[in-house]
Parts: sequence; C-alpha cells; structure tokens
Amino acid sequence: MARPYICLLALPAVLLLGIAIISRSQGLRGEKHPSAPRIPSQFSQEERFTMKEALKGAIQIPTVSFSPKELNTTALAEFREYIRKVFPTLFKTSFIQHEIVGEYSHLFTIHGSDPSLQPYMLIAHIDVVPAPEEGWDVPPFSGLERDGFIYGRGTLDNKNSLMGILQALELLLIRNYVPQRSFFIALGHDEEVSGINGAQKMSALLQARGVHLAFIVDEGSFILEDIIPNLKNPFAMVSVTEKGSINLMLQVNMTPGHSSVPPKETSIGILAAAVSRLEQTPMPNMFADGPVMTALQELADEFSFPTNLVLSNLWLFRPLVSRLLERSFVTNALVRTTVALTMFNAGVKANVIAPVAQALVNFRIHPAQTVQEVLKLAKDIVADDRVQFHVLYAFDPPPVSPFDDQALGYQLLRQTIRSVFPEVNHVVPGICVGNTDSRHFLNLTSAIYLFNPVYINSQGFLTLHGLNEKISVQAYEMQVKFIFEFIQNADTDPRPDPHVHEL
Ligand SMILES: *[C@@H]1O[C@H](CO)[C@@H](O)[C@H](O)[C@H]1NC(C)=O
Ligand SMILES: *[C@@H]1O[C@H](CO)[C@@H](O)[C@H](O)[C@H]1NC(C)=O
Repeated sequence: MARPYICLLALPAVLLLGIAIISRSQGLRGEKHPSAPRIPSQFSQEERFTMKEALKGAIQIPTVSFSPKELNTTALAEFREYIRKVFPTLFKTSFIQHEIVGEYSHLFTIHGSDPSLQPYMLIAHIDVVPAPEEGWDVPPFSGLERDGFIYGRGTLDNKNSLMGILQALELLLIRNYVPQRSFFIALGHDEEVSGINGAQKMSALLQARGVHLAFIVDEGSFILEDIIPNLKNPFAMVSVTEKGSINLMLQVNMTPGHSSVPPKETSIGILAAAVSRLEQTPMPNMFADGPVMTALQELADEFSFPTNLVLSNLWLFRPLVSRLLERSFVTNALVRTTVALTMFNAGVKANVIAPVAQALVNFRIHPAQTVQEVLKLAKDIVADDRVQFHVLYAFDPPPVSPFDDQALGYQLLRQTIRSVFPEVNHVVPGICVGNTDSRHFLNLTSAIYLFNPVYINSQGFLTLHGLNEKISVQAYEMQVKFIFEFIQNADTDPRPDPHVHEL
C-alpha cells in the first residue's frame, strides 16, 4: 500500500435501502449453473512447506521502490524469473495467458469456461518500500522464520497477497481446476511510487481491449483485532473506497531587499501565516456523509454498555461520536480531509529578504469531497491573494463501490470470509486512508474492494512500512486457503435473486 499505509477503520454505510427492496430467495443463483465438484482447501504437509518456502524466497528478492525513478530493476528482473520457477503449472497452463507490461509488471488472463460470466480481477504488487536494517530483529530481506513468523519487508505489504494469489491458483491447477468465470491477475511493480508504469499501463491495455470487470479485489484492509478499544471480537473490514489526494505548492514572491531595511511583511512571514491558518483550521467533519457512520452502527452490538447504546442511537449521539472520533489523529483521518504541511523552503542568505517562499501541503481527501471543493476551501482559509496556489498532483477519491445484497464482489468476499474465518461475526465496509494500485482501474469497473485476508492488530499496523514486518506461517496458509476458496466461489453467484415486481 502506498504511503500512508494505514487503511483503517473506514466503516461505510450500509445501503439499507438496497437490502429493503430485495426479497430473499432460497436458492443461490450459482446453483442454476451446476458446477464441477468443489475442490477442498486442504494442503499436504509437503505443499504447506513448499508454500512458506516460496514466500520466503520472494521476500529475499529486494524489489525496492526507492523513488518513482529509482526502482531496483535487477531485483524486479530476478522476481520475474522467480515466479516462473516456483509456479511452473501456472506458466504452462493452456488457458492462462501471461504478459509482461511496463517491463516488470505481470498480467495474467485466466480464461474461464463460461464466457457469459463477467470477469473479475485480483491485484497485488511486487515492489516494497525501503527497509534499512537498523532496528530489525532479523535482516529485512532475509525472509527468516522465527517463532512461527516469517519476517521481512513485504510479508504484509504486499508479497503475501501476490504469492498467495499465485500459490492458490497453482494449487488449484495441480488439482485440475478449470474456472468457469474468467479472471485477471494484475501484479504491478511500482505501486509504492505511483503505479504509473505498472498498474496504469495494464489498465490502459485492458481498456483498449474493451474489457469490463464485474469487480476488483486489491490490498487495503484487514481483519482487525484489538484495534478499537473495548470491541470484543475481531471483525473484517472491506474497504469500498479510498481517500483522494492533493499535493499543493503554496508560493509567495517578493522583490528581494536588504534585511537592514525590511518591508513590513516578508515572503516568509506571509507564507508562514498562510500555512499556519491551514493547519489550525480543520476541514469539515464528514462523519455523517461517510461510511464510518453506518459501519459503527453495524458494530454496535459488539460493544458493551454504554458504547453499544450510543452507537445504536446515532440519530441522537451523532454529534458526540463525530467529536470523539476527531480526538485521535487516526480516527480523525476517517472523518475528514486531512491537511499536512510537509515541506517549507525559503531564503538564500542571512541578510537578504527571501525573494521566494514555497511550502508543500498534502491533503488527503475524504470520499465525500472532491479536489475542487478542497481547493476552494483551502483558498478561503488562506484568504490572501499574495499566496499563489500550484497544484502539483491531485486525484479525486474514487466513487464508493456498492456493498448491498446485489454487489457480487462484496458478497463473494463476505461469503468467503464467513467460511474461512467462521469466528468473524461482522464484515463491514470501510474507507482506505492510503492509496492502492486499484485506483488506476476505475475505468474498468465500478466495484473495487480492498481486503487482505489477514488478521492485524495495532502493533501489526506499525510494521507496515516500519520495523519487523512479519506474517505468521499459519496466517499465510489461511491467506492461500482464502484465495483458493474465493476463486472457486467466484464461479457461483451468492446473491439472492432480485425480487421482480409483476405489473
Ligand atoms: C537490488 O537487487 C539485487 C538483487 O536482485 C541486490 O543484489 C542489490 O543489492 C539490490 N540493490 C539495492 C540498491 O538494494
Ligand atoms: C478513463 O477513460 C477516459 C475516457 O476514455 C480517459 O480519458 C482516461 O484517461 C481514462 N483514465 C484512466 C485512468 O485510464
């Protein structure tokens, strides 16, 4: 996941309306197309050993993205050979087409037997953020196993997904599985630094081929454990949107002069006051317009008194809860567009009035707002025409993907979570605070879900892009099992038949 990595509690609203107008029917749609016998997700000792060794090997290849222009292309080339070596069946299967895009990204097309079913896509990324050795218990690219955990950069972000997807498919193919529904696997190589040469090129290629996807599943959220104080059980969060972003450069120009006869205001003073106003004036709280609200309502019964009462009566307690969420900087990021002052440059000499002062401000846009709206608000807050606004980079938050009863991707995820992790009582929609490669595929689908089938707690969050990133061997096996089940589930259709009104 690109920085900032946290895809936290973004708990979107359930479209109760959607649920209300659909009458439940007994049968699943998928049962209308009888499918091949289900392949059980049971793996032999030898397969389990091979799968964890394959993950370790992937961690050992330092596919680091240092900056948009500086990727370890030697490692990326090595990785290309590596996946061929560890997943031989996948590469020799006749109904799977493999293409290299942008030199190092991989696009697999798995042709299903039933062309009437709309295809879907699984996304993961090859690159990782840098990991200086200092502070790690084991070297970050060693892939060492300790106390049941595999350590290393990429064990959670995101080689676990990447290897998990290919591993699950390899194991299915060994068991002679042939999918009914076609799907794509897109593995980008520059996700951590934009996705412009990987994901974006794969998307363009598929757009040129006229592909439309039923849905996409990418990294993003997790099964959350011990993240919200007082919440009794773990719950799964499937993010249905992510935040937008703006890199805005503010600039003040002035005629240079001597510091012995200073003007009343300097470029530095004017700019400092402007950025200070931006920092001190929060963007509006969008709690009521976002996913967070209804997901909290869904989770209400998981809390003890009085939180359960408060969350089940948000019609009354909404102002209270929205203010409480503002208090922690983590939950604050879920309810509003955030403003971060990240760079400030001015001055050339101790006795010269700076001719130019520049500051860089990074906004992360709440899904209920747009780039234009945020820029307008920022201009009103700065309220000084001497401060120029230069947008360096900006994108709107993607639309919220559907998560009602008729949302195929969401329902397939829900079904698979329920069967693979029966202890998880709630699957709630969320907002991802970071960004993923999936946003490059918006033209191909209106249903993008961000979910990594792995447990994570608050400590685990700190390891993403941080020290001692690790995954337990058992968690990785569960990840492979999840994808193994998910791919098979995607051949059926878990949605209830929509109620058809007879006229
Ligand atoms: C790039 O990857 C190769 C292995 O493929 C490794 O030997 C080399 O040290 C890496 N370079 C950097 C700068 O990390
Ligand atoms: C999406 O499609 C539009 C219209 O064809 C095109 O202009 C735009 O570049 C596409 N966006 C992406 C991210 O591919």
